[in-house]
Amino acid sequence: MFTPQGPTLRELTVQALSSVERGYDLLAEKFDATPFRTSDRLLTSVTESLEALGPFTSGLDVCCGTGAGLGVLRSVCAGRVTGVDFSTGMLDGARLAHPGATLVRADALALPFGPVFDLAVSFGAFGHFLPDAQRTLFAQVHASLRPGGTFAFPLPAPPPVGSRLYWALWGFDATMRVRNAVLRPPFVMYYRTFRLADVRTRLTDAGFEVTLTPMESLGRREDGSPRCRLVVARKA
Ligand SMILES: C[S@@+](CC[C@H](N)C(=O)[O-])C[C@H]1O[C@@H](n2cnc3c(N)ncnc32)[C@H](O)[C@@H]1O
Repeated sequence: MFTPQGPTLRELTVQALSSVERGYDLLAEKFDATPFRTSDRLLTSVTESLEALGPFTSGLDVCCGTGAGLGVLRSVCAGRVTGVDFSTGMLDGARLAHPGATLVRADALALPFGPVFDLAVSFGAFGHFLPDAQRTLFAQVHASLRPGGTFAFPLPAPPPVGSRLYWALWGFDATMRVRNAVLRPPFVMYYRTFRLADVRTRLTDAGFEVTLTPMESLGRREDGSPRCRLVVARKA
């Protein structure tokens, strides 16, 4: 799962015993060599789906990390591209990879922007937000978009109940719940707290109109459902 360039098990353990912000500061230098960085395959597929929805002018990557989504924004936005994250280390990585982007250090639960963006994207970060925080996050993104603006992100189908991946994610979440019950600061990271039906309701409550686009280039499951959908939330 991990490459020689990636973090050691010890480094990952130290990260998981820190706060989310400090943990990513510690991981930042090696982050791109971990499976936690959004894959180029997924990024390409999102870019293709967004090209059909544009044109867009200014774009925001929420929880940009080392900048995986900034490349997507540069492909589909004609104007300024901005990344926001609260980890200084991750932002340093994004700055190196995307010297032309504007990078802002801020908590995604208190975004420091007016309604200026046409498009907001986010990749790989929703597990850091518990349901109440997701509501705040969606409201913050909504407030950062122009009227008619779009918030888009990929949402993979959950693994079939009882599959190996299902139990692996279940085990991960259970371990994190125990860890967070006994240790401070908490490290909020759960895989099973971002389900399509709930997400749709929370986006609608935040004022978005939600549509779903199957990401066909990522294929379909045996039951015919898409492996991944692009959630497209428009600010009315
Ligand atoms: C798994 S990384 C994903 C990075 C990148 N988007 C990607 O797909 O490769 C999650 C990122 O979310 C950021 N993050 C988590 N909670 C945050 C918050 N409340 N405010 C800002 N950034 C946050 C972390 O610092 C980290 O950079």
